[in-house]
Amino acid sequence: METHAPPTPARDAGATADDLPRFLRACRGLPTDRPPVWVMRQAGRYLPEYRAIRAELDFLTLCRTPDKVAEVTVQPIDRLGVDAAILFADILLIPDAMGGELSFVKGDGPKFARPVRDAGDLSGLRTVDVDRDLGYVFDAVAACRAALADRRGDDGLPIPLIGFAGTPWTVAAYLVEGGPSKDYRNLLAWSYRDPAGLHQLLERIADVTIDYLAGQIAAGVQAVQLFDTWAGLLDASRYRDLVMPSMRRILDSLPAGLPRIVFARNTAHLLPTLATLPDDVALSIDWRTPLAEARAVVGPTRVLQGNLDPAALLGPLPTIEIAARRLVEEGRQGVAPGRSAHIANLGHGILHTTQPEQAEAFVAAIRAAARVDAAT
Ligand code: CP3
Repeated sequence: METHAPPTPARDAGATADDLPRFLRACRGLPTDRPPVWVMRQAGRYLPEYRAIRAELDFLTLCRTPDKVAEVTVQPIDRLGVDAAILFADILLIPDAMGGELSFVKGDGPKFARPVRDAGDLSGLRTVDVDRDLGYVFDAVAACRAALADRRGDDGLPIPLIGFAGTPWTVAAYLVEGGPSKDYRNLLAWSYRDPAGLHQLLERIADVTIDYLAGQIAAGVQAVQLFDTWAGLLDASRYRDLVMPSMRRILDSLPAGLPRIVFARNTAHLLPTLATLPDDVALSIDWRTPLAEARAVVGPTRVLQGNLDPAALLGPLPTIEIAARRLVEEGRQGVAPGRSAHIANLGHGILHTTQPEQAEAFVAAIRAAARVDAAT
């Protein structure tokens, strides 16, 4: 098993541990007054101010317009008061740049005009130069950092910006099927018929992802999250074969000390495998696994992120507040004294029928959580 030296906060340009924002402290396991909180898919259709911008720009045009990206990225900062911003982009921009020809069909979600179904299709993929083909994302990162420069969290410190990508497995799931699928039968069939060919696709996606994340980091993202939405299609042994190698290569490519988070959905059975990732990789847990169960598997110091059921935000405000307080309590259980090891979030993306007040109630209740005993 690989071991990484614990990240040193001093590697953050100019920052000492004391002026690290709460989210970045928690990523490093440093004690915090309360768990930081952000919300997966916090910029999106549940916000009227987002829908107002989308009324004028389709989703991909929005992703390619840096000043508009900055505007929607900071909307949840201003509305909810979360402790971190996540770049507004999509995991499918990479396979689009690779030649998949992505479009978003109203009501149907993403669609690739040129899916990759077998090894023969690999020769049709383009060689990506990330500056040429995805440079608009790096410009957007810079615009987000500029927009965040005049905002502060309730700790008086700047709001960090999270960059992201999909894991090659999850990106391939959409590229192979040509869009979302009920059963991912083309992807799974390929994985049994010609694993070597599928590995080639996964490694091609990983190559682009490594350059893409390096570009995001150079442009200013301060942490990286990898989304593995379709992890749960695999058992542990197939996960070790089909997901871990390219995911590890991407994680290893990131600069030492940069916070890394892996969100893997539907993965109670994969936690022991995920726990073999380097100790400083935070694991974002979906809502089906109680945090205490995850904690028992990953030990007292690994940072866990999550994991309120997104549907819980559809309930009445007092119920949301109770659930948020319970989440803070659960997040503290089994954590080594003097450490923090929980980032409050949902267990998957916020549902677009959530009312803004329901999201606000969740974040406000986490922010009101009593001080963790930071003195120990
Ligand atoms: O606020 C944020 O979290 C940042 C932006 C973000 C988006 N997509 C914007 C988006 C992030 C981090 C993603 C990740 C993403 N995209 C994932 C992984 C996380 C997850 O939810 O499982 C996946 C699987 C995708 C692919 C994707 N993009 C799908 C399947 C869809 C259509 C269905 C849907 O959820 O809307 C999208 C579109 C998309 N990406 C929207 C947004 C805000 C909705 C577009 C719109 O405005 O109509």
